[in-house]
Amino acid sequence: MTRHLLRDDDLTPAEQAAVLDLAARMKAERFAHRPLAGPRSVAVLFDKQSLRTRISFDVGIAELGGHPLVVDTQVTHFGRGETLADAGRVLSRYVAAIVLRTHGDDRIAEVAAHATVPVINALTDGFHPCQLLADLLTVRERCGGTRGRTLAYVGDAANNLSHSYLLAGAAAGMHVRVAGPAGFDPDPSVVARAEEIAAGTGGSVRVLRDPVQAVRDADVVATDTWTSMGQEEDGLDRITPFLPYQVNKALLGNAAPDAIVLHCLPAHRGEEITDDVLDGPQSAVFDQAENRLHAQKALLTFLLKDRP
Ligand code: CP
Ligand code: NVA
Repeated sequence: MTRHLLRDDDLTPAEQAAVLDLAARMKAERFAHRPLAGPRSVAVLFDKQSLRTRISFDVGIAELGGHPLVVDTQVTHFGRGETLADAGRVLSRYVAAIVLRTHGDDRIAEVAAHATVPVINALTDGFHPCQLLADLLTVRERCGGTRGRTLAYVGDAANNLSHSYLLAGAAAGMHVRVAGPAGFDPDPSVVARAEEIAAGTGGSVRVLRDPVQAVRDADVVATDTWTSMGQEEDGLDRITPFLPYQVNKALLGNAAPDAIVLHCLPAHRGEEITDDVLDGPQSAVFDQAENRLHAQKALLTFLLKDRP
């Protein structure tokens, strides 16, 4: 059966831990692993902009001995001149895996339904599972583990990062709290799924309104842009209701004294996070960005092992 990573919960907690173990090993032994030698090719397709995902997949596939094909879909027929189903079928004849950043989760699901190679979500409107593998690797490094640690995500609790923190954080045995203004709560079905996962890992899930309550004594404080790609023209006020959720020194002062700060980047400095926090001693954001590379190398290795 072809395995995909469309949402964080496509990996069991044990599989997530195995990928993170491998990521740590690959980070320590940077150029020693070449499971894609041949080379096997991986298509990395973008319907939306990217810096980190684009470069880290390109570099990571090359470091694994593979051949990366990084393509902006606007120059192809992808999903416009031809169906996503046909694109999935055709790409599967050329490449060992398809990495896709797109809009609706229905789009990546359609590709995966017709692909015969693994499909990896490189960000959709709903989820960003590759980011979470990097974040959890960073938490392991900085906090000595994930199990039992408290992670507070504040800001747009309705977005892809919020959903991925809920699912992946619960799988990692963390106590996940998400808080955003009214109208920006997570999808209830994702919260329910995260609760189900947490029940098996010893983690927990809370959806809050008050950012101070969310951050209180947390080991990890995470945030993300208040305006995700594709939301620029949605007509919602994406500043005023979010101001109490800004990760600044005052809010961070409620967290554990040695708490780390995560932001997937790109940051809108002065909006969801202040310069002094992003550039300050508690920030782990550049380790987090680097860890995209190691986590994705491990993920590709995991999904492609035992495949022709
Ligand atoms: N964090 C992240 O996915 O960054 P990019 O949009 O630059 O890929
Ligand atoms: N929530 C953001 C994440 C960017 C990496 C977006 O979807 O634009």
